[in-house]
Amino acid sequence: MMWLAPFALLVTSLVHPSSQQDGNTTAPFPNATYPNATSPNPAAAVNASFSPPYYPAPWGTGAGEWASAYAKAQAFVSQLTLTEKVNLTTGVGWEGERCVGQNGAIPRLGFRSMCLQDSPVGVRDTDYNSVFPAGVNVAATFDRGLAYARGQAMGSEHQMKGSDVQLGPVAGPLGRAPEGGRNWEGFSPDPVLTGIQFAQTVQGIQSAGVIACGKHYIGNEQEHFRQSTEAAGYGYNISDAVSANIDDVTMHELYLWPFADAVRAGVASIMCSYNQVNNSYACQNSHMLNYLLKGELDYQGFVVTDWQGQHSGVGSALAGLDMTMPGDTLFNSGQSYWGANLTVAVLNGTVPQWRLDDMCIRIIAAWYYVGRDNASIPINFDAWTTDTYGYQHFFAKEGYTLINEHVDVRQEHADLIRQIGSASTVLLKNTNNALPLTGKEKFTAVFGDDAGDNPYGPNGCPDRGCDNGTLGMAWGSGSANFPYLVTPETAIQNEILSNNGVFQSITNNFAGMQIQQLASQASVAIVFVNADSGEGYITVDGNEGDRNNLTLWDGGDVLIQNVSAICNNTIVVIHSTGPLLLGNYSTNPNITAILWAGIPGEQSGNSIADVLYGRVNPGAKLPFTLAGAREDYGTDLLYIPNNGKGAPQIAFTEGVFIDYRALDRANVTPIYEFGYGLSYTTFSYSNLQVKTVLGMNGTYTPTTGSTPPAPTYGTVSNNTADYQFPSNLTYVPYYIYPYLNSTTLSTAANSSDYGDNSDVPLNSQNSSSQPLLPASGAPGGNPELYDVLYEVTATITNTGSIAGEEVPQLYISLGGPYDPNIVLRNFERLSIQPGMSATFTADITRRDLSNWDTVAQNWAISSYTKTIYVGSSSRKLPLSATLS
Ligand code: NOJ
Repeated sequence: MMWLAPFALLVTSLVHPSSQQDGNTTAPFPNATYPNATSPNPAAAVNASFSPPYYPAPWGTGAGEWASAYAKAQAFVSQLTLTEKVNLTTGVGWEGERCVGQNGAIPRLGFRSMCLQDSPVGVRDTDYNSVFPAGVNVAATFDRGLAYARGQAMGSEHQMKGSDVQLGPVAGPLGRAPEGGRNWEGFSPDPVLTGIQFAQTVQGIQSAGVIACGKHYIGNEQEHFRQSTEAAGYGYNISDAVSANIDDVTMHELYLWPFADAVRAGVASIMCSYNQVNNSYACQNSHMLNYLLKGELDYQGFVVTDWQGQHSGVGSALAGLDMTMPGDTLFNSGQSYWGANLTVAVLNGTVPQWRLDDMCIRIIAAWYYVGRDNASIPINFDAWTTDTYGYQHFFAKEGYTLINEHVDVRQEHADLIRQIGSASTVLLKNTNNALPLTGKEKFTAVFGDDAGDNPYGPNGCPDRGCDNGTLGMAWGSGSANFPYLVTPETAIQNEILSNNGVFQSITNNFAGMQIQQLASQASVAIVFVNADSGEGYITVDGNEGDRNNLTLWDGGDVLIQNVSAICNNTIVVIHSTGPLLLGNYSTNPNITAILWAGIPGEQSGNSIADVLYGRVNPGAKLPFTLAGAREDYGTDLLYIPNNGKGAPQIAFTEGVFIDYRALDRANVTPIYEFGYGLSYTTFSYSNLQVKTVLGMNGTYTPTTGSTPPAPTYGTVSNNTADYQFPSNLTYVPYYIYPYLNSTTLSTAANSSDYGDNSDVPLNSQNSSSQPLLPASGAPGGNPELYDVLYEVTATITNTGSIAGEEVPQLYISLGGPYDPNIVLRNFERLSIQPGMSATFTADITRRDLSNWDTVAQNWAISSYTKTIYVGSSSRKLPLSATLS
């Protein structure tokens, strides 16, 4: 086939990058009725609707554990031609290859295109895979080991399917607003709990030889308006995506915190988010990428866009982006901000060679860092169809071949999934030991659509975009296809029938008469209810990703009321993506037990049966607050654009005061507090000891010095004839290539003023050595931040008669007038036999005791008195001590 120029070059993105970068993405705000995002803390009182520029993009140095991966990457990248380098950075276009994202291959060196595949709960868009419990459940376990094991199991499934990059885990959204549609993909609104489980998951995934992708960086706290194109589909006419306006203190002490943990844990890729941060798109925001991530956190891996999250070519390259996915500007446009445009940009000097080389080094180093050179196997699935035969290039319908080998990658993971499901089930209420059940109850009745099957099958709604049947998985790209879904109805029925008991169920929430009849016969009534949410491209029951409210779905409240009005032994089980309002259930005497089971994955029914029937003694704790009223959370989503046709503006005026910190500050009592959860046994806390390790007087040395100059690898020929479409290659329509369509650069760029270097951001092309930031020094930030200053121990005794698990939690009051009352800093899940004691041991690091100092641009320990607390929840803290 003759190759005809398939892409018009996007000239504005090439030559006028600065107008699309920091602080200037949107027009001045015509309706400036919203406040600037000043935190309650006046030290942070900066205008957080503007993002200051920071250039040049830091080049990776192989810091920390990365030295050997960097050495290998340097050897590899040194051999590459310009177009081969560009291929590494640019996706081939939406549905151009078999994975949800793939970059260009380097056939000459036998380097196949990398497969980037969702999701944070397993391998998306395939078959014979497992569906793991969601991140929010992993948070509820408060168990580092389970987080790691799940990561490793998911990583191994990706590995066996031929995926190179698992697009997860998630720490953005963090969970600023409880209605946030994708909060469940992440862990918890507490940054320490999230940071620990995020890092454990990263290490688990990468231990399986797969690159983890920490996402979405950063401020992606709601689905509404995350993309202007998506918003247009909902009838909102906005020029640009929503801007999360976050001050410097809040950024460091809350939203960046878990990303620092992941970088320290070696995360090898990070996905920048759709939204703007302080009015600059996250994927071209030089402050977020160059300054914070690559400068301060010394991140050595690569930054990949969220899908269609790129908004400029040169601009994003200079602002620190390393890979664009899926590669086309808009799905199937056949055009790219990079691809051939990046080839031109390097040839005309707007993007320096060192910057392109750094992108490639970061990508290839990530590949070596996790051991892809030993682990990689051919891709054996296709994200776009489960048919066995089909097109290699799905959208272009080219290359008919075997595309799905249906490899069963599940191994023994069902056991782990079942275990995490029960280990993440929080026992909220248990009057007079209503639980555990014996299975010998005379008449067991189960109620609720949430107990049963989806009549369309477990995968009947694309990307789980409906709320039919039990909620084992929420909706969006964070989902995966079920191999099966064990419903609570099935598992409980099996339990009862094995005891020759009586079991009946009603899964129609609105069958009022029948429900009353059955409830009147039951000796125990188990009511299953749920609340769902997901990603913004799907609307379920009027919820555009984010939830519209915090109430139960499908008439869940009426169902609970109908059953509990009649049966005085009503047990409520909740599956939900996050917090919800519980009305008077905690005090209603006919409701004898309440459990929150989250989003448990494929083994849902078995996991809940294990807890209900006492095979597992619950030990999970709430990873968020269950407040009495929506307003108690002190934050809300933006549902209606507030800036005319400009980018909607969300001022994060609550600062660090989200979830329990908000209720504590306002002195509002929740129904069930963060960290709360009962057991079938009881525990007592005693003997708090604080050992000074380095103490607070030890030194903290700001990092000084400078980087080496930017290295380059190999040489770039200026001969444009070298970059024409190769005669031996078959052109695939819509595919994104790095090749030029003319030997004359101005023609290839399709622009009269191509190569205008005058308005690239100041310093962005500078390759000379650069000063190091005081808070930097190693991946994760200044290494002394992680020095242990104190070690805390306490004795936890099982005072009941059965073995159980308890999660002692360490909170700290930093003592300042603008600090939260307390912040979680550590925890440990302990298994304790009846009558026995175990020792809780927790380190307190320098970071744990510090605040972010906006002037010094560094962490500092304030002179306020620091008090530590140890207990079983954020409001049950029997032990305390003051740090000297
Ligand atoms: C968009 C989602 O925001 C992201 O999480 C996902 O990985 C990509 N789509 C690819 O499906």
